[in-house]
Amino acid sequence: MPFREALEQTAEATAVGIKVSTEGYRGDVADAMRYAVEGGKGLRAFFVYQSAHLHKVNPIFARMAAEAIECLHAYSLVHDDLPCMDDDDLRRGQPTVHRKWDEATAVLAGDALQALAFERASSAGMTDEARVKMVLTLAQAAGIGGMVGGQAADIAAETATAPLTLDQIIALQAGKTGALITWACTAGPTMAQDDPSALRTYGDKLGLAFQIADDILDVEGDAATVGKAVGKDEAAGKATFVSLLGLDGAKSRADELVESACDALSVYGKAADTLRDAARFVVNRSH
Ligand code: IPE
Ligand code: IPE
Ligand code: MG
Ligand code: MG
Ligand code: MG
Repeated sequence: MPFREALEQTAEATAVGIKVSTEGYRGDVADAMRYAVEGGKGLRAFFVYQSAHLHKVNPIFARMAAEAIECLHAYSLVHDDLPCMDDDDLRRGQPTVHRKWDEATAVLAGDALQALAFERASSAGMTDEARVKMVLTLAQAAGIGGMVGGQAADIAAETATAPLTLDQIIALQAGKTGALITWACTAGPTMAQDDPSALRTYGDKLGLAFQIADDILDVEGDAATVGKAVGKDEAAGKATFVSLLGLDGAKSRADELVESACDALSVYGKAADTLRDAARFVVNRSH
């Protein structure tokens, strides 16, 4: 199946799976949780399925891990959009959760999606040991040493007196975006208790390329296609590859990262071609 079609199917199936697990709950927070998992590209879920396939993990476990990471990612977006963070009104072409409901609902829906992510991760793995590892590594990727730490640096950079250095921007982006992407890319070997090093390198490079592409879309994209407001990073004083290297510098950096991400997959040979397609999509995407 062509890459784009496979990606769409994964995204849809993952959103449906998450919604099914909240089916018994009524009220604004439960509705907002279901709303927040709709309409994403599902890339992190896709990386989970692909890495699980390469390591011969039962798709039922892959599904648990895919739902876990998309719940965690959706929570991070709901909170990222809040007025105290990036203050955004549009997400995935729809009003953000705090605009459709209110801030309390958005905070709680994000909290509950994070909890659901760990519930899901606790079922993702072939042995108890693997399941504990999945939960532990998700906590590390989500927390102060990962996504939250990166988000904190991102917000702090807005009011920093001196521009961040390249190394500081790399560390910021590896946290806020890279950690969850690398978790998704290594989910297969983690579940199978195999060596994750090749997929970790792929995930680290790709995670960085992914955020560079996001920063480029903020400059070059249009809101209708991207599904969120554009042109906001510079005004907010965000520290990005684009702010430091300019558009051309950022683009060539992203291309180099994608090449080295693909090279890291050589141990898998042609079996990893779909992941190579995914890497190219990440930097060529229009949304
Ligand atoms: C957006 O991620 C937030 C970043 C980490 C840059 P995606 O571009 O994967 O968002 P969705 O899930 O497709 O909406
Ligand atoms: C958000 O980065 C990353 C996380 C939600 C952790 P951005 O703030 O650049 O993402 P968008 O542009 O709002 O999707
Ligand atoms: Mg942000
Ligand atoms: Mg944002
Ligand atoms: Mg952005």
